[in-house]
Amino acid sequence: MRAAKDHCVSSTAIGGIRRAQLRGRRGTCDIRIDGAGNIEKIGRGLRFGRGRRVIDADGCLVMPSFIDSHLHLDLAYSLDIVPANRSGTLVEAIRHWDRAKRKLKPADVRDRAIRAIEAEVNFGTGHIRTHVDVGTGAGLRLVEGVLAAREACKTIIDIQVVVFPQDGLLRDPGAYEQMHAALQMGCDLVGGIAHNERTHDDSKRHIDKLFDLAAEFDADIDCHIDETDDPKSRCTEYLAAKTIECGRQGRVTASHVCALASYDNVHAAKVIDALREARVQVVTNPGVNLHLQGRHDRYPKRRGLTRVRELVEAGVNVAAGQDCIRDPFYPFGTGQMLDVAHLLAHADHLTTPKQLNTVLDAITTNAAKVLRLRGYGIRPGCRADLVVLPVQDGHEAVRLRPIPAHVLKAGRAMRGD
Ligand code: FE2
Repeated sequence: MRAAKDHCVSSTAIGGIRRAQLRGRRGTCDIRIDGAGNIEKIGRGLRFGRGRRVIDADGCLVMPSFIDSHLHLDLAYSLDIVPANRSGTLVEAIRHWDRAKRKLKPADVRDRAIRAIEAEVNFGTGHIRTHVDVGTGAGLRLVEGVLAAREACKTIIDIQVVVFPQDGLLRDPGAYEQMHAALQMGCDLVGGIAHNERTHDDSKRHIDKLFDLAAEFDADIDCHIDETDDPKSRCTEYLAAKTIECGRQGRVTASHVCALASYDNVHAAKVIDALREARVQVVTNPGVNLHLQGRHDRYPKRRGLTRVRELVEAGVNVAAGQDCIRDPFYPFGTGQMLDVAHLLAHADHLTTPKQLNTVLDAITTNAAKVLRLRGYGIRPGCRADLVVLPVQDGHEAVRLRPIPAHVLKAGRAMRGD
């Protein structure tokens, strides 16, 4: 594998931002950044240290850097090495990927992952939670590649790695041991794909195993779950019940949860209440699920997303992810979280001013809760992970999805200087 490049050696330390427009605040303000890369003070007419580079935002919107709470770095840009997904379904994508991943080398995974990370950083992402395929097919080679990419990019972005048994645990005997080894290699979270087992009983056993592994490593869980239009796919309620039984409230994320949108309203309300009670957080991936779901529908076609609006109204924390960038699961994806927000607004009719705030929260503060970040936001003491967008407000940020004028990571310029 080639030597890791240091992304931050030549980046400029920034002393602060003048005339910044913050969401939900009238008028502009200044943000002073200390030498350690943290926000020191916010106010009007602040003085900055002599000789320190200060950005003049000139009334433009400054936000905390975006968070991609669900991405597959090992898959990024793999569309060139797999056949086209003709049915457009999750099942066919998994089949193509299964053949391709057996031949992948860690260096290839690493290089594609770095390309995706650089795209995300350029668009203002400061944190990523990535799922990485682990099992008897993938072995540990994909994890090796993604961990190498994380190391190479550690000065420009923070990355959490979830060990993800793409082919199931009961369907792929041996995957559990591979997950165990991947966690020992430095991965952070236990992942799963509960609906991808042969029977509902196996799905429950799959979830049980995730909690066993999480207890052994004291790790959080982020499980792909009910990523299907099948209204009889009922894994999410078991995940919530198991979370309460094991006392893991607040440490479990349910990703996708598409079947919730196909349940009848009475059952959906029961599952949403169980998620709220268990403090299970939900990550939706609007682009990918608009693409993959509804493939067996003629008309009307379902949108495929989980019930974002109802989850939020019930008090469940909901974030949104990019999920895929140009791979067999999704031929699009840019790594721009404002694109994800834009799709989410369309997909669940989240278009009022209040709902557009929810959409932006899904790629910022709500996602920070999913990743359980400390020191995230625009307050004194928070790390200066910031983006300056050439718009005046959040609505325009979602409408125009501009490339940031400046991206700061711990007070250093990643873009714009
Ligand atoms: Fe995913």
